[in-house]
Amino acid sequence: MKVIVTGGGGYIGSHTILNILKETTWEVYSIDSHINSTPETFDRIEKISGKRITNYNVDVSDFKALKSCISQIPNVNGIIHFAALKAVGESVEQPLLYYRNNIQGLLNILECCKDLKINNLIFSSSCSIYGNVANLPVDESTPLAKTESPYAATKAMGEAILSDVQKSQKMSITALRYFNPVGAHESGLIGENPINKPNNLFPVITQTAVGKMDKMSVFGVDYNTRDGSCVRDYIHVSDIAKAHILALEKSVERKNFNNVQFYNLGSGNGVSVLEALNTFEKISGLSLNYELDERRVGDVEAIYSNSAKAKKELGWIPKHDLEEMMSSSWKWQQQLEKEKNA
Ligand SMILES: NC(=O)c1ccc[n+]([C@@H]2O[C@H](COP(=O)([O-])OP(=O)(O)OC[C@H]3O[C@@H](n4cnc5c(N)ncnc54)[C@H](O)[C@@H]3O)[C@@H](O)[C@H]2O)c1
Repeated sequence: MKVIVTGGGGYIGSHTILNILKETTWEVYSIDSHINSTPETFDRIEKISGKRITNYNVDVSDFKALKSCISQIPNVNGIIHFAALKAVGESVEQPLLYYRNNIQGLLNILECCKDLKINNLIFSSSCSIYGNVANLPVDESTPLAKTESPYAATKAMGEAILSDVQKSQKMSITALRYFNPVGAHESGLIGENPINKPNNLFPVITQTAVGKMDKMSVFGVDYNTRDGSCVRDYIHVSDIAKAHILALEKSVERKNFNNVQFYNLGSGNGVSVLEALNTFEKISGLSLNYELDERRVGDVEAIYSNSAKAKKELGWIPKHDLEEMMSSSWKWQQQLEKEKNA
């Protein structure tokens, strides 16, 4: 198998490459413009795996450059398409950037698949397309909500584009709807390293713990949840990575060109923000500096996944619990501190 991972320098892409190198004999290439990562990720991948991955520094929203790049890699079996911008707030401020990057990027990938006869595609989607859901947990038949941000819109539109293209193009397409990917590789040598102020809870917690952020806020403590704070479904990034291998294997073997396959990837457990903070304090022995704050506009009260379909059809069984998610994130943050001070 020969596989291209777009966005291989990023958080989920790098963990997926490591998983591929560890568990398969696939030949893997990355395409990443480093708009939200650094080339150093590939040094880290090499340090952990002993293998050097070729990354093509190409913007997937540039069709000519993308096609010329993929043409250099003959007989590709599948593409795992992670490359996208993902900051919700930034997408509200710069919608054109998000539509151009995420939608044009996807169109170009599909066009290249068509022209270069690449029949398998795995697309990174997101639970943000479900919005505020009355009946929890959400499964794949839950109707999609009106999207709350241009970022979420690019995922919902992306899925709609895939469904249309699937009907006209002989391809096997899978969209994986991630809940909240967190945690870091077991080595502690690679993890999420936001270039800008982090949006996600785990890096906010670990950055507050090392003093990179003075203090953190819990946005909303009057929600209709166990302790009043928002509830999310956190899932270890290595479990998410593994699902891509299973999905691509299934895609290749299935050769089902009739419809796009959609799968939720979540742990199935709802965890509140305050529970996450308590878990961090427990595993680290530290006290976090946080304050209880007002609700934030656009935040969903509670969401967690029913991932039975991925378990049944892909054989995907998440292995890491909340404490492992938190302790691996913490190990990674401490590694970054060590490197900073070296
Ligand atoms: N991390 C999450 O919480 C989450 C949740 C749901 C869905 N997703 C989706 O998963 C995918 C991967 O997310 P991530 O957390 O690894 O993000 P990330 O920002 O760490 O990685 C994305 C990578 O893609 C690259 N990239 C972006 N646009 C590009 C372009 N036009 N050309 C080439 N490279 C480009 C970036 O440089 C980066 O290395 C994204 O599509 C994201 O929307 C992420």
